[in-house]
Amino acid sequence: MCGIVGVTGNDSAVSILLNGLQRLEYRGYDSAGIYVNDQNGEDYLVKEKGRIDDLRKEVSATANVHGTTGIGHTRWATHGEPSVANAHPQVSADGRFYLVHNGVIENFQDLKNDYLSDVEFTSQTDTEVIVQLVDRFVTKEGLDTLAAFRKTLSLLGHSSYGFLLMDKEDPDTLYVAKNKSPLLIGVGDGFNVVCSDSLAMLDQTKDFLELHDGEIVVVKPDEIKITNQAGEAVQRDTFHVDIDAAQADKGTYPFYMLKEIDEQPNVMRKLSQVYLNDDGTPVINADLLDAIKSADRLYIVAAGTSYHAGLVGAKLFESLAGVPTEVHVSSEFAYNQPLLSKKPFFIFLTQSGETADSREVLLNVNEQKFPSLTITNVPNSTLSREATYTLLLHAGPEIAVASTKAYTAQIALQAILAKALGEADDQAAAKDFDVKQQLALVANGMQALVDEKATFDKLAKSALLHTPNAFYIGRGLDYAVSLETALKLKEISYVQAEGFASGELKHGTIALIEKDTPVIGIITQQKTAGLTRSNLQEVAARGAKTITIVTDALAKPDDTIVLPTVDERMTALLSVVPGQLLAYYTSLNKGLDVDKPRNLAKSVTVE
Ligand code: G6P
Repeated sequence: MCGIVGVTGNDSAVSILLNGLQRLEYRGYDSAGIYVNDQNGEDYLVKEKGRIDDLRKEVSATANVHGTTGIGHTRWATHGEPSVANAHPQVSADGRFYLVHNGVIENFQDLKNDYLSDVEFTSQTDTEVIVQLVDRFVTKEGLDTLAAFRKTLSLLGHSSYGFLLMDKEDPDTLYVAKNKSPLLIGVGDGFNVVCSDSLAMLDQTKDFLELHDGEIVVVKPDEIKITNQAGEAVQRDTFHVDIDAAQADKGTYPFYMLKEIDEQPNVMRKLSQVYLNDDGTPVINADLLDAIKSADRLYIVAAGTSYHAGLVGAKLFESLAGVPTEVHVSSEFAYNQPLLSKKPFFIFLTQSGETADSREVLLNVNEQKFPSLTITNVPNSTLSREATYTLLLHAGPEIAVASTKAYTAQIALQAILAKALGEADDQAAAKDFDVKQQLALVANGMQALVDEKATFDKLAKSALLHTPNAFYIGRGLDYAVSLETALKLKEISYVQAEGFASGELKHGTIALIEKDTPVIGIITQQKTAGLTRSNLQEVAARGAKTITIVTDALAKPDDTIVLPTVDERMTALLSVVPGQLLAYYTSLNKGLDVDKPRNLAKSVTVE
């Protein structure tokens, strides 16, 4: 949530900042700003409400904006409405200090009362308190900027922050600090950059330094000094990010979401290549398998779409590996930890590897010394670094706020892991399960579905475009997918959509069915197919417009969408695709910004 960038020592600072912010727009997009300084006494602060394109226009309209060092921010509002005044950089009253921030300062009101009662604030943000505090400690207490920054940080308790601070009197220096929010330093040739996500700066450098919570870094064009909380110097090697900047481009696609839906067959093939031998045996770290094998219960912890992928994963771990598995929403688990089994093993599913709610759980889990695995799309992300083990999704950058290929990658990788575990434990179900062949079938099936875009466009127009609400229903795995497809629809098309266990409809929700309410039944499980069909009849009798998504093996002549047949444990990988495409075309046909739905952000780094 919120993207921040910085650069020092580069004549193209303005375009580096603006391009970097554009690539971080997925983190927040209600307002944005930059501050740049040219080292010769000229500096510029430009902020605008809206998107980075709006900020670009404002920069072009402002005379001569240039500089070599600067900071920038794209905002997802927490304190105060989206406005120019609340956009970052926030500035101290005397115009000397400039600050961008990603996170939440929990005690900002106390700090304001205790230290700054005489200051006139110009924004409603928690961030302004911090920049005014630094200024106070420099101008009133005579501290140097670094000492003032350090003192300010010491007052922030458990707050979350990624900060980039500039001092007009020391204009080639970036003061950087983080706690809970992600930040990386990028090492350039004669210049350096800072960013919330390496994607922002891949056209400038591929070599990055990770930062740890509590560290403070002073970044100059030719120098990067990391210190820990005690002020001691920290040495750290860079890591190389092996992503081509072009992978994060949407090419000829109108929206990233469509590109990412289309990439799913290849993601399935890639996972098969990376994690399975030619004969189909899984290639999974033996220590990881041993650690999971010695557990008596798996706890999958995740948020949003990743939580939905966990619901499917749990069924795979139970059916293929015979391990009891629970799935929990991170934000609930974090403060209401259930009674655990004697030997728990934790699996964190997280596309970004940065979700604050999931990280809070991981911190607790680490404190309790339980082993854990993070399954993530982002190498070197916080949850990847802090868990005992990591498995990467290899899905390529996912930029659209609505997650698609990360969901299917998470399910596929859990299937491979479940197969590996089951085989290691001599479970017949796992031995008989040819995951390589299944993933190949899934990839082909996905391709067949994404090739039918016109069908989904038409169906979205006829069934979903003008409805205020809609329901997805199913049982078992189909229920798990109903939750995900309903989430897709609501988050990008603003149709009030709910996923329901079809057996639960009669216990209340059926009261909401009116003439033409769309009810989409997912039917891929033989043992419950008949029951879900009966539930669809019941809503049809009350006026609902019913649509079916059914596997070939269970299809009847009147079914709406027929999916190619795969193993029943793998159907989620196919049944979700029509839901993704229906959501996409509903949003598109409403003229909405598919990739950047209102009020949302992709990487949720505040709790
Ligand atoms: C946000 C995103 C969702 C995502 C969720 C969890 O809400 O919009 O698409 O599923 O965060 O994110 P994670 O990166 O942990 O999977």
